[in-house]
Amino acid sequence: MSLSKTAPSALSPQDRAWLEKIPGPLLRWYDQSARALPWRKNRDPYRIWVSEVMLQQTRVEAVIPYYERFLCRFPTLQSLAEAPQEELLKLWEGLGYYSRARSLQKAAQLICREAGGVFPDSYDRVRALPGVGPYTAGAICSIAFEQAVPAVDGNVMRVVSRLLENAGDPSSPTVRRAVADALQKVYPAGRCGDFTQSLMELGATVCLPGGAPECAGCPLASFCRAFDHGTQADFPVRISKKPRRILPLTVFRIGCEDRTALRRRPAEGLLAGLWELPNAEGFLPEPAAEAWLYGHGLRPTSVRALGEKRHVFTHVEWRMLGYDVSCPGPCPDFVWVQREALAARIMLPTAFKKFL
Ligand code: ADE
Repeated sequence: MSLSKTAPSALSPQDRAWLEKIPGPLLRWYDQSARALPWRKNRDPYRIWVSEVMLQQTRVEAVIPYYERFLCRFPTLQSLAEAPQEELLKLWEGLGYYSRARSLQKAAQLICREAGGVFPDSYDRVRALPGVGPYTAGAICSIAFEQAVPAVDGNVMRVVSRLLENAGDPSSPTVRRAVADALQKVYPAGRCGDFTQSLMELGATVCLPGGAPECAGCPLASFCRAFDHGTQADFPVRISKKPRRILPLTVFRIGCEDRTALRRRPAEGLLAGLWELPNAEGFLPEPAAEAWLYGHGLRPTSVRALGEKRHVFTHVEWRMLGYDVSCPGPCPDFVWVQREALAARIMLPTAFKKFL
């Protein structure tokens, strides 16, 4: 295995020169193989921005129906800026990482207020928008505005790590910056957007994670060091992450006639400010669960265990024990929402939906 002699995150002059081989074969492959995805229909920066924000942490197949519904309801920056937040969140329901939706709207409002609704076309101004990091800014500026600015996400890191057998930590911002700097030098004028998307496309469809890359169909195989040495499974290197914290919770689905009890989550932290089913930390056995309900002023007529569900977030995993509760009357600690409104208008995070 020929690892570069420099620090693992840095790219040697040889590595940089190696990358010059990519654009030609990769673009020829992309012209033949690119998937017809809805955000590739035109170069409207608004549409590309929405797609890139949705695609952070979410797979293409899962994003497509959300993207189409979103653009149908909010076809322009202005319509997004003016949307009621609850409606925006309802359209985002199930995609997760809800702060992305809020930042998207905050940025749309800023552009409408300060730039007459015209999407900025300089990297620095795009990067300064709420919720926009170097990856998203690079994707927007290269795809919508044909600028030579790379967008290095996990897929692109995997492609480059294998091509160069680079042992840098693929999630480290320093390593990503080094890769972006080196890629920038080989961006092909006139095809910057396609080059960005071809790198992503190769990572998503050919240069697959783990031991499953489809090197037989890879346009870069003839100069991929990992393919040459059979080390594809060793790159990118896996940096052991801190294990997720496990949080046991007891979740209550409380019905009173045709209404369900909800409450708002705290304004800070995980799922900040969103609706939730009432819940308590820890696994409460039935008598303790009943005591908790009494403590909130409820007099349940039935309490039935719903079993356990899990929900995995980035840094924490919820282990949830559910109870279905019927009450003859409501109490003031919660907001009592009609089932029809809950289904049609209220955004409830997926973790809680598992009990509906
Ligand atoms: N993942 C992130 N951005 C993408 C894009 N523009 N096309 C396909 N997959 C992507």
